Amino acid sequence: MTKKIGILTSGGDCPGMNACIRAVTRTAIYHRLKVAGIKRGYAGLIDGEIEDMSVSSVSNIINQGGTILKTARSLEFRRKSGQKKACEQIKKFGLEGIIVIGGDGSFRGASKLDRIWDIPTIGIPATIDNDIAGTDYSIGFDTAVNTAVQAIDKIRDTAVSHDRLFIIEVMGRKAGFIALESGLAGGAEEILIPEVKTNLDVICRKLMEGRKRGKTSSILVVAEGDEAGGAFQISKKIKQRTDYNVRVTVLGHIQRGGSPSALDRIVASQLGSAAVELLLKGKRDAMVGVVNGQVKIHPLDYAWKQKKKIDRYLYHLSQILAI
Ligand code: ADP
Ligand code: F6P
Repeated sequence: MTKKIGILTSGGDCPGMNACIRAVTRTAIYHRLKVAGIKRGYAGLIDGEIEDMSVSSVSNIINQGGTILKTARSLEFRRKSGQKKACEQIKKFGLEGIIVIGGDGSFRGASKLDRIWDIPTIGIPATIDNDIAGTDYSIGFDTAVNTAVQAIDKIRDTAVSHDRLFIIEVMGRKAGFIALESGLAGGAEEILIPEVKTNLDVICRKLMEGRKRGKTSSILVVAEGDEAGGAFQISKKIKQRTDYNVRVTVLGHIQRGGSPSALDRIVASQLGSAAVELLLKGKRDAMVGVVNGQVKIHPLDYAWKQKKKIDRYLYHLSQILAI
């Protein structure tokens, strides 16, 4: 049976990582396991930046954004030589299982630890992008969407006052989940996402039709990964084709910070606890997710072999409501 486990956060940080670290640590201690916190993701694992955690190491962090363990992207860990060094540290510190909190890149690394180096590993999805198959929510997504909606609401105030068109760029890497949900909740006239082909001619025509009907301002939310380019490129094209007074806001890393929403804290608590219990049952090379409110288990490679689909109905609805 597993006696001591390690936990790390890797890739881009997100709100709720701390709530998850807390859940892993306290569930492990509840089951009389020892827990070690690995600093700076795989980079810290290679360097042996590993410290024992106690119940109080995770006090008062459930409400904090970021990650107390810090995070990193490690090129060295992508190579077998780096993974070998990481394994040597795992053995040195007596870790019999590793829990990785991160995105699909972090899961690929975790799966290598398990399959190539025989270290039992469980992944917990945590990325604002929400682009991981096998879970309805990845930790951080809900908070990021709420942050984006708050920003869109504020921009709407000034857009209306000045009769302007605002193009708001949100994160999401190659996925449109943040754009779709924040655009729908923020009442955007147009939502541009990589999953749906963007036709700027059609968008400009609709904007001008809206203007003729008396619409004086509009909000366009674009995912950073959309084929039409970034917000500034799109704004140039729209300025050439309409008479709108256009402004651009790129929300950027503001979406990655802040106190996690209640939903993110709850999902983080459920998944953190489930991951520890899976290791205890001898499960490995697996990820935990939440589907229809229930914890679900998939092989780690499900996360990147299956493409997570956007909800087409939500996209369609956003179009109906934006007429
Ligand atoms: P995220 O986990 O948010 O998707 P990245 O894609 O940057 O973030 O991945 C985080 C880290 O996981 C990388 O810096 C690297 O150390 C490790 N990683 C990613 N892909 C692989 C891979 N194919 N093999 C081994 N390690 C990987
Ligand atoms: O994966 C999370 C994310 O915030 C993406 O939405 C974004 O494309 C990327 O990370 C930004 O990465 P960095 O913090 O390295 O600029």
